[in-house]
Amino acid sequence: MADSRAGRIEGYAIISEDGMLATAARIMPDSLKFDADQQFFGHGLDGVDVVVHGRHSQERQPHSHLRHRLMLTRSIPALAAHPSNEKALLWNPAGASFEQAMSALGMPGANVGVIGGPDVFGLFLDRYDIFHLTRVPNVRLPGGRPVFPGVPARTPEDVLASHGLVPDAQQILDPAQGLTMVSWRRAAKPAAD
Ligand SMILES: NC(=O)c1ccc[n+]([C@@H]2O[C@H](COP(=O)([O-])OP(=O)(O)OC[C@H]3O[C@@H](n4cnc5c(N)ncnc54)[C@H](OP(=O)(O)O)[C@@H]3O)[C@@H](O)[C@H]2O)c1
Repeated sequence: MADSRAGRIEGYAIISEDGMLATAARIMPDSLKFDADQQFFGHGLDGVDVVVHGRHSQERQPHSHLRHRLMLTRSIPALAAHPSNEKALLWNPAGASFEQAMSALGMPGANVGVIGGPDVFGLFLDRYDIFHLTRVPNVRLPGGRPVFPGVPARTPEDVLASHGLVPDAQQILDPAQGLTMVSWRRAAKPAAD
């Protein structure tokens, strides 16, 4: 892959009723872990070329070791090799653009799955082609890590809508658990004259 076109950017999150993706201690509790969501998430990431996440996040899936990834950290000025994973690159957006990071990873124009946490999800709000938001009923994590900056003062749905994303119909991932998922897509731009 050696072109400069923009690839597809997808986001994936599972959140509590109050819009949290982890506790204040940055732990994802068992109350947010469900087989149906894990299957949806794993299948989705099998369809992208690069996974993007913050230093405290990582999908733990059978195919994780096969994936190229950008790991965000402020511990380096711009870009650096990952110390132990040759498919991964450390990236500080303050010193290098997303496009520069993707090129340095050897994956310019590749399709990307953004998997959090809050600031990383926030960084791509104007760029998602689609954001898959799974909601868990009856679980609240007050003071936890919000899915986006600005939550819970605003709802996650309000944040997505304010960045030009529109919801598909709700899907039920697990009827017994009441687990729902809505894919938010970027609204088509009106054709230029
Ligand atoms: N429920 C879900 O869908 C979901 C999704 C994602 C994560 N989680 C859970 O959330 C927890 C982790 O959350 P977290 O808040 O710690 O988020 P995180 O994004 O995984 O990690 C935060 C770290 O990433 C780096 N980082 C983030 N934004 C950056 C930026 N703009 N520029 C440079 N570096 C940046 C910083 O690393 P340095 O400290 O090295 O500078 C920061 O300390 C874990 O338990 C994870 O399992 C859940």
